[in-house]
Amino acid sequence: NAGKNGYPFYMEKEIMEQPDAIERTITNRITSGMPDFTADGVPDEIFTQCERVNIIACGTAMHAGLVAQALIKSILHMHIDVDMASEFMYSDPVIDEKSLVIAVSQSGETIDTLEAVKYAKKRGAKCLSIINVKGSSIARESDYVLYTNAGPEIAVASTKAYTTQLAVFYLIVAKMAQLRGVFSQEETQSFIRELQRTPDVMKKVLEGRQEIHKLANKVLEAKDLFMIGRGLDYSILLEGSLKLKEVSYIHSEAYASGELKHGPIALITQDTPVVAAVTQEKLMSKELSNIKEVRSRGADIVLFIKESLAKDIDRAYDTFHLPDMQDEFMVMPASVALQLLAYYVSSDKGFDVDKPRNLAKVVTVE
Ligand code: G6P
Repeated sequence: NAGKNGYPFYMEKEIMEQPDAIERTITNRITSGMPDFTADGVPDEIFTQCERVNIIACGTAMHAGLVAQALIKSILHMHIDVDMASEFMYSDPVIDEKSLVIAVSQSGETIDTLEAVKYAKKRGAKCLSIINVKGSSIARESDYVLYTNAGPEIAVASTKAYTTQLAVFYLIVAKMAQLRGVFSQEETQSFIRELQRTPDVMKKVLEGRQEIHKLANKVLEAKDLFMIGRGLDYSILLEGSLKLKEVSYIHSEAYASGELKHGPIALITQDTPVVAAVTQEKLMSKELSNIKEVRSRGADIVLFIKESLAKDIDRAYDTFHLPDMQDEFMVMPASVALQLLAYYVSSDKGFDVDKPRNLAKVVTVE
């Protein structure tokens, strides 16, 4: 048990380590309040000379890419695609010397991602990778690497690797916004200051974990459930849903709330709990009306909502208040909360949380 630092499972230990892991990811990459990749040897040109960005990854790392896509679109207004590495090469991607390819991988060994990087480089793209394991195959194959510094991740279900990947993406977005003249120096510094609040905000979520443990009870017996949200909330829930599936074997589907009425709402009954995330002020009223719709069809609601948006919320919902950050950073506290939900469901069901059936930590077959 020594390696688990007193926790029953690595997954819990690794969830708890996230504030420190984020600290390690960002601290040495901030100089005078500005993003700084000098020590990583990443030159500014790769961020200024590209016309489009392609993110390539698998699984949880791909979900980090989807969050980055939303940020890059809304902040940088750039053309960006996110591809599952296993689909990328067979989709005739538009990729050339004007493309910046960002490969994301915890292990640095996922074969599909490695092959996609080789393919993109052959087409003339520059490749920057976000990797956890030093000296791994994808790291060696890439032009530049930003290591996540999460430390070893043992549990099959990825937690601290994901949030540190997000942290690196926030740094990249800040850097690109600064270099491309989207942010002034003050705006860049204020974005970075918000990122620096992340460890403390995550600590607050971790302190509230027994509340999330209680919410886990509400979905323990479910065979199927939906996770619903819009925009960034939808991106977070794709990962939250994968996490729950991986460790609890509950069939969980993340759905963009607005799409529910085009099919899945037919499946909502009192036996299908719905986990909802509401963290984006501009989407809140639409999200709440979608939640009402599923509630009226009998679904029990487990709601993760940004604290300052939580006034006047229906008391019929089982609710966890996520500590406030600026909307584009709410991904951070929300991710930790959803990881804890998955963790408690799995451990309360008596499963071997760290070693879910059929899954491997590192996938080296296509
Ligand atoms: C496996 C792991 C996942 C991981 C995915 C991609 O499926 O179980 O946790 O997200 O591979 O792995 P990578 O090492 O490339 O991030």
